[in-house]
This record gives sequence, C-alpha cells and structure tokens, in this order.
Amino acid sequence: MPRRHDIAAIGGDGIGPEIITEGKRVLEAAGERYGFGIRWKDLDIGAERYLRTGELLTEGDLATLGTCRAIYFGAIGDERVKPGILEKGILLALRFHFDQFVNLRPVKLLPGVWTPLAGKGPADVDFVVVRENTEDFYVGIGSRFRKEERKTLEVIRSLYRVKFGVDAESDAEEVAYQIGVITREGARRVIRFAFEQAIRRARAAPKVTSVDKANVLTEVYGLWRDVFSEVAAGFPGVSSEFSFVDAVTMWFVKNPEAFDVVVTPNMFGDIITDLGAMIQGGLGLAPGGNINPEGTSMFEPIHGSAPKYRGLGVANPVATIWAGSMLLDHLGEGEAAAAVLDGIVRAIAAGVKTRDMGGQAGTSEVGDFIAAYLRGA
Ligand code: IPM
Ligand code: MN
Repeated sequence: MPRRHDIAAIGGDGIGPEIITEGKRVLEAAGERYGFGIRWKDLDIGAERYLRTGELLTEGDLATLGTCRAIYFGAIGDERVKPGILEKGILLALRFHFDQFVNLRPVKLLPGVWTPLAGKGPADVDFVVVRENTEDFYVGIGSRFRKEERKTLEVIRSLYRVKFGVDAESDAEEVAYQIGVITREGARRVIRFAFEQAIRRARAAPKVTSVDKANVLTEVYGLWRDVFSEVAAGFPGVSSEFSFVDAVTMWFVKNPEAFDVVVTPNMFGDIITDLGAMIQGGLGLAPGGNINPEGTSMFEPIHGSAPKYRGLGVANPVATIWAGSMLLDHLGEGEAAAAVLDGIVRAIAAGVKTRDMGGQAGTSEVGDFIAAYLRGA
C-alpha cells in the first residue's frame, strides 16, 4: 500500500487560490516521484464566503481541518472587508485553535536570487526564525474606554487559561490598552523547539539567539529571558545569546551570517521576518510553517493576498511551493521536501522566474517547470 496523506487546502483570497493551485500540482508531482498519494480536502474559507454568508470559520471547517495533520494555506485579505476581521477571524483563529505554537520561518537566500545586501550571498544568509505564535500582544485582549472601566479579560488556550480583572479609571480624554501575555509554559515549549532546530540544522557551531526587548518590557520579556536561560542550560552543545529587537534589525542587514536559529516572541517575530524576507530576495520567496508537533500544522507563504494581482497569473508561487516543501518535511517526506526545494533552485537557474524576480514567467509556468523537474528527477 502506498502512503497517503490527507492535506487540507485553503486558497483564500486575492492571489491565494492561484498560488495554492501551483503548490498542489508540485506536491502531487513529488508524490508520484517519491511514492505517496495525497487526498486533498478543499475548503472554501475567505472573504467571498464571509461576504456571502457572514461566516469566518465554522464548526464544520474546524472539524474537517482537525482530521488532517497539515493545512496548505494561500492567503487572506480583501479590500471589501475591514482590516482585522479576516486576519483575526481566520488566520489567527486557526493558529490559536490548533495551538500552532511555532511559526517557523526560514531566511535563506537561494543561489541566483538577488539580495539588497551588498556583498552577501547564499552562504551568508541562511538562518531560521522560530516565532512564538500564540502569545504576546497577539492574544488580542484589551479595550478602549473613557473615564472608567470594569472588565474581565480572558485568554483560553489548550495549555492554560488566564483571567484578568480590569478596574481602571482615568481623567484622560480616552484610554486604550492591550495586554501582552507570556507564560512560562508557552515560552518553554517554543524555546525548546528552537534549540532542537539548532541541533537538527547541525551547523559547525550551533547557536540560538533570543530576540526581545527585556530592557523596556521587563515583565513579559524578563520572564521570556529567564525561561530562555533555563532551557539553554539543558543544551550544552548549543551556544546561546540575547539580542534586543532594535539591534537585531541592524545585525540582519550588517552580519546575517552571524545567525543560525533566532527565537522570539510573536510580535517581534512578525516584524523581523518581513525584514528576513527582503534579505532573502523578497516576499515572493518567503515561506512559513505554523507548527503544532502533535496536532494540525499549517503551511503558508508569509506574504498576503496581493489583491491587485488577483487573476493576472503573474504572482510568484515560490513562497507557497517552498511552504509545500516544509509541509512535506513535516509529514516525514524529507526526500521529497528536499527535491521540491531543489526544483525551485533549478527553476531559478533556468531563468523561470516571475516579474518580481526580474523574469517574465507566469505563475503556472513556474509550477509547470518544478512539477516536470520532480517527475523526471
Ligand atoms: C504574518 C501576517 C499576520 C501576522 C497577519 C496577517 C495577521 O502578517 O503571518 O506575518 O501578523 O501574523
Ligand atoms: Mn507579518
């Protein structure tokens, strides 16, 4: 019996469906070559359905997604929907519901790809960011008030529950606040994952860098640092260091070769991975995996839905195809995963590049090339 994987697919909005179509073709070709089948479960989730029915994620969606170990996700975001609704109601809701506590984002410059960093090449830009994915300011609790406020704010996770009672008064015209939450359990599991990544990457001198702002946000990131030091002590073969987030944006540009694994709370992880995407050649080339090692994980390009390119066939599918490679790796198809990444490198070498990379190829030509390469590999 050949192996078979059930994979959920969500094209979503804007260019999402086009790039997921290419990603699916590439993964199917990898399956033919490496002896596994894929049963896709396609879900109609995104702006269109929301505008039609008012639904963001239904119980039925979550039940279907929960039967799969992996979700292949395109993008969400639509100019007809107020910012925040789809992002919080779909993307963040999925990350939290499935407790995908790691957001793994490789920052790797592939051969033949232009980087804005003068004098740097593929040997210099090759690290991974492990972004915590369920805590920090992303927990989304807070409020706006005038004069006074009495409120209960709750964070409910599979790992724990936290409840805050707010009792505030003010003579300011209006007050807004938002609470960032770090827990010992939440920090510990993601930092451990980062050290395990360092071991898996097996560099000559494995290293994990913690990125935070413990000099100002001393409570949340003070706890983060304590946990980092405790976890680091259990990995004597991996060196460790702290860096403040403002400084790390400078080092990513000046000395990207100094990094191996970077681990960071959610919001700084969001910010520094867009910078990471630029130094690896642009958002069209940056993949990410939202990982729960024991549950349902989700793989996506880190770029958004780019509505102005929708339906034009010009979007770069590489970030999505690369996310597909990470998905295969997650499912234990390591050889196929490596071949997909190799296919991306070959496409670039052959000049099969979309416009954002200075080429002429359309979205499906890139998918065609990589799928054909895999079938013949
Ligand atoms: C990302 C995105 C999301 C985030 C948005 C769309 C909610 O920017 O995946 O980096 O902030 O995490
Ligand atoms: Mn982002």
